Amino acid sequence: MPALNVDLQINDIYIPHLENTARTQIFYGGAGSGKSVFLAQRAVIDVLQGGRNYLICRAAGKYSRKSTWAECLNVIEGAELGHLFKVRIVEQVIECQNGYQLLFSGLDDTQKLKSMRPAKGAISDIWVEEATETGRQDIKELYKRQRGGDPAIPKRLTMSFNPITQTHWIYDEYFKGVGWAEEQTAHREAGISILKTWYIHNRFLTPEDVADLEGERDPYYHQVYTLGNWGVLGNVIFRNWRVRDLAPLRAQFTNRRNGLDFGFSSDPAALVVSHYDRKRKIIYIFDELYEYGLTNDLLAGLVKEKIGSDYVVCDSSEPKSIAELNAHGVRADGAVKGKDSVLHGIQWLQQHTLIIDKACIHTRNELTQFKWKEDKHGKAMRLPLDKNNHLIDALRYAYEADMEAYWLAM
Ligand SMILES: Nc1ncnc2c1ncn2[C@@H]1O[C@H](COP(=O)(O)OP(=O)(O)OP(=O)(O)O)[C@@H](O)[C@H]1O
Ligand SMILES: [Mg+2]
Repeated sequence: MPALNVDLQINDIYIPHLENTARTQIFYGGAGSGKSVFLAQRAVIDVLQGGRNYLICRAAGKYSRKSTWAECLNVIEGAELGHLFKVRIVEQVIECQNGYQLLFSGLDDTQKLKSMRPAKGAISDIWVEEATETGRQDIKELYKRQRGGDPAIPKRLTMSFNPITQTHWIYDEYFKGVGWAEEQTAHREAGISILKTWYIHNRFLTPEDVADLEGERDPYYHQVYTLGNWGVLGNVIFRNWRVRDLAPLRAQFTNRRNGLDFGFSSDPAALVVSHYDRKRKIIYIFDELYEYGLTNDLLAGLVKEKIGSDYVVCDSSEPKSIAELNAHGVRADGAVKGKDSVLHGIQWLQQHTLIIDKACIHTRNELTQFKWKEDKHGKAMRLPLDKNNHLIDALRYAYEADMEAYWLAM
């Protein structure tokens, strides 16, 4: 193929992977190691060169737009290549002037996924971002999706993620499959290639980013997000939950409980929408919002879309935000948060079964990782680690009145 004269700043460790043709490719590791940016760069270069079309997906489509979509546009704009691409926001397609395309979809949008065809040629590449959000079956379907096409162009299915827990099916399937040793950082053959990276491999991180990562004190988070090692989760707080497709049950979810935790730049705004089956002690979480950078008027619009005229119980430390939501027609109220409300809330939730809709990716992530603080011997203290718990806080607010009634009756 003709060499392209494109000035992209690529981290050294990834450069050989521009030419990697292994059928299955895994890029995993610590936070901020440059995985997503590199894969976006590779996608843009490949369509520019022609011959390859990409399907770029995440488990839940609603999160694609903020991540891979924005990432690819950044690469195009950063390299001043905008004039070579047409961007179609509604269809979520970025098309190069040579006709090759980047197609974006959520794996939850099965209709769209089935009907997606590139303008010319076949889908040679699939990139699944945050692949730990997917199930084994989702990925199997994607391999099938790539049947056919030009045999001269090797097909690739690429996954990127942080290694959140060694009990994950991806570890079983691919890492055990190649006899992966934890000290290993790369594996390469025709069938599968694995590359582990962490912050030292990304020369574009700021000193503050590096200090944040190096300063992570919780051993689990340090292993996974600083060093990129497969996580071993002990001292997890919630094990009383499971995932289901709740879409078919939605109409029956009339006993609503909604909770909202505010956030803006460093924390997301986090909304939990749920149904309470008090008799059977089951909480169905069937919708969530998890978004950074929302002003209160935008937040109000999104919350109303999800809960309509229902109540939502919010973090009371932001009375101004609550007042603004009210002014925008959201029936929002502050949580009371009495003494020991965090621990009591956790205990109360532990006595229930939580059933989470499969598209509520962030709720699933938080529940997977929410853990007790540990002393220096690794022993759990009676204090949850205050990290990655925005939706869990929202859930506590949502059920505050139910909890109070329960503890009063004790
Ligand atoms: N090639 C690059 N050129 C410019 N900036 C980059 C490049 N690669 C990474 N960065 C910067 O580093 C940040 C982290 O990179 P990236 O998001 O790709 O990491 P990641 O490995 O996907 O992290 P995570 O595991 O948290 O998703 C980016 O937001 C960007 O600011
Ligand atoms: Mg990333």
